[in-house]
Amino acid sequence: MFIPQEFIRKKRDNKPLSKEEIEAFIRGVTDGSVANEHISAFAMAVFFNGMSLEEKTTLTLAMKNSGDTLTWEGFDGPIVDKHSTGGVGDVVSLMLGPMLAACGAYVPMISGRGLGHTGGTLDKFESIPGYNVLPDNARFKQVVKECGVAIIGQTASLAPADKRIYSIRDVTATVESVPMISASILSKKLAEGLDTLIMDVKVGSGAFMPTYALSKELAASIVEIAHHAGVKTKAVLTDMNQSLAYNAGNGLEVHEAVEYLMNSRKNPRLHAVNMALCIPALTETGLAKDETDAAQKLEDALSSGKALEIFGRMVTMLGGPADFCERYEHYLPKAPLIQPIYAPDSGIIESMDTIAIGMSVVGLGGGRIRPSDSIDHSVGLENIIDLGTTVDTQTPLCTIHAKDQASWKEAKRRVLAAISIGENMPKVKEVYEVIG
Ligand code: URA
Repeated sequence: MFIPQEFIRKKRDNKPLSKEEIEAFIRGVTDGSVANEHISAFAMAVFFNGMSLEEKTTLTLAMKNSGDTLTWEGFDGPIVDKHSTGGVGDVVSLMLGPMLAACGAYVPMISGRGLGHTGGTLDKFESIPGYNVLPDNARFKQVVKECGVAIIGQTASLAPADKRIYSIRDVTATVESVPMISASILSKKLAEGLDTLIMDVKVGSGAFMPTYALSKELAASIVEIAHHAGVKTKAVLTDMNQSLAYNAGNGLEVHEAVEYLMNSRKNPRLHAVNMALCIPALTETGLAKDETDAAQKLEDALSSGKALEIFGRMVTMLGGPADFCERYEHYLPKAPLIQPIYAPDSGIIESMDTIAIGMSVVGLGGGRIRPSDSIDHSVGLENIIDLGTTVDTQTPLCTIHAKDQASWKEAKRRVLAAISIGENMPKVKEVYEVIG
């Protein structure tokens, strides 16, 4: 019989856990026979003692198999997805999904909501009237088949063991554990039945992991486990020392994504990161013969309007307006108060506390403090100034979209405190390294 406290004691004492023990533990997490106290003590033991590759892989696969897993028989192309560790103005999925689909991939993307300072892809899509983020499995597959991409939310039946463990880690100070984060992310992604996964691991002042070394450790851990589980995976370390897009806030980011796909306005930083993630997706799956070929195919997908057309079709098939891409400005919600804020001094934008920038969007009502909070899709920051820009007191730092004067003022205070103006030109980089 499986006795959870014996299992926890082993990890506490740094003894190896067997495949059978880990699987029994996850069975208990899923059927409720393992208590919250067991889960929290186990998570803390892992936090301090880590896990071997064998243990991490077994944990990941057991969590993946705790619920439904998707299969893609009859699909004539590779099944690919991208996952990001989360950031501010990270609207990449909205362009990457349709661009990869335009190049022949199938992208069944199961995304999350924002929590803390990070935005969530699902919240962005919910700014589109009618868009259903929780279609049934048959509809999900039909949209993937017909459009090449569908971006939806996690159902209760996908990796339920992760859901329970994550909610306990969240309140027991055990989130920041590389083995637990790796298993948590991969259990959900592998349940999608992928051939290839591209991980975007953020680095910098807005990243989930506090140092470059830890971001790299997480990237390497995810790649190693995924390879062990038989999924082609590359991790790209990308910059989060400032907002990735011009805009941060749900509807404002969708606005920017549509204009990017329309080739009318493209933030070079966002484009660089998007391409750095799309290119390995095409080379790993064999949809492009090398990086140059991949880049060409992706640029063609954009310039021909094919990626935009796929995005529009996906929105419509998931319940959004049929003319969304033509009339996005009409459909996206608008905040009642839209006003810029200006640089308080002259100088160079030296650095940005990107977590604080994200929290200013949360403070406006564009994110959640608790998972159950509802959000305002109209609010956020538009045209956030780039690091390295020379400013004077006439230069806008961003335009704040707020529901009222009080929240506008609060956001102004937060943004001013988050941006440092000085004399030194910061080193700015979009992509650091690729692992895998
Ligand atoms: N995101 C996840 O899905 N799981 C974690 O543990 C951390 C971030």
